[in-house]
Amino acid sequence: MGNQVVVVTGGARGIGYGIAECFAEKGASLVLADVNGERAQESAERLGALGAAGAIGLECDVSNRAQVAAMVEEACREFGRIDVLVNNAGICPFVDVMDLDPEVFAKTIDVNLMGAYHCTHLVAQKMIAQGEGGRIVFITSLAENVTGPAQVDYGASKGGMRMLMVGFATRLGRHGITCNAIAPGMILTDMTRSHWEQPGPAEEIKHRVPMGRIGVPRDIGHAAVFLASNEAEYVNGITLRVDGGHQAVCA
Ligand SMILES: NC(=O)c1ccc[n+]([C@@H]2O[C@H](COP(=O)([O-])OP(=O)(O)OC[C@H]3O[C@@H](n4cnc5c(N)ncnc54)[C@H](O)[C@@H]3O)[C@@H](O)[C@H]2O)c1
Repeated sequence: MGNQVVVVTGGARGIGYGIAECFAEKGASLVLADVNGERAQESAERLGALGAAGAIGLECDVSNRAQVAAMVEEACREFGRIDVLVNNAGICPFVDVMDLDPEVFAKTIDVNLMGAYHCTHLVAQKMIAQGEGGRIVFITSLAENVTGPAQVDYGASKGGMRMLMVGFATRLGRHGITCNAIAPGMILTDMTRSHWEQPGPAEEIKHRVPMGRIGVPRDIGHAAVFLASNEAEYVNGITLRVDGGHQAVCA
């Protein structure tokens, strides 16, 4: 567990970086693969102080299969293998579907869904060749099941990611590789900060979330560490909601 090699896409900031922090505290080696390569390297440099055995930041656009292939090769060159993949990189344009350009719709699908496909497909090949199993975690969203007018593209991508996870779980289980999703609720990151720091929405969280607070990236990180652990060996093909009880509320 302590010496796992973990690739986190979109790991330069936000939920991805929070996940990386939690693995670093367990002594893992981290690869932060992010479209913002400079920020990925800066973030990787901070992980040593938390206990990471090693950490590198690599520039990689997950929607570009050639870049994903190069990132996977570089990760294996640096650390010898990959034990855990966290498909976290994602975008959410927040535009009403009736005003949304088809190109923007396609980009959301390309990054969130196709990106997770490229990374899973290429990393799984390495894991199968390594012959020691593996763990793949998909960061979806409550939007894998429910969505709204300004998140139609996002909901389609996240619902697709859920079925990608389920489908790969059926294929990779025989190799000892598990695939599971984490559906975060409302988490304070740069993606959501401008919305949740306004007085109205901040107050709304207290009513809508039974835990009475917005989530933080490390809430998701702890769940990812569990799904990647030996103890989660027989957990396969599920979505773990980490939302403070948000989706449990009906009134
Ligand atoms: N913040 C929330 O409330 C929330 C809720 C549910 C799900 N999520 C999901 O969690 C994940 C992380 O969200 P966040 O809030 O930390 O977002 P964020 O915008 O703060 O961070 C996303 C990271 O992904 C990187 N990235 C974007 N496009 C990329 C690409 N094509 N290739 C590689 N890296 C790319 C960005 O550079 C950034 O570092 C996303 O998949 C998002 O959909 C977030």
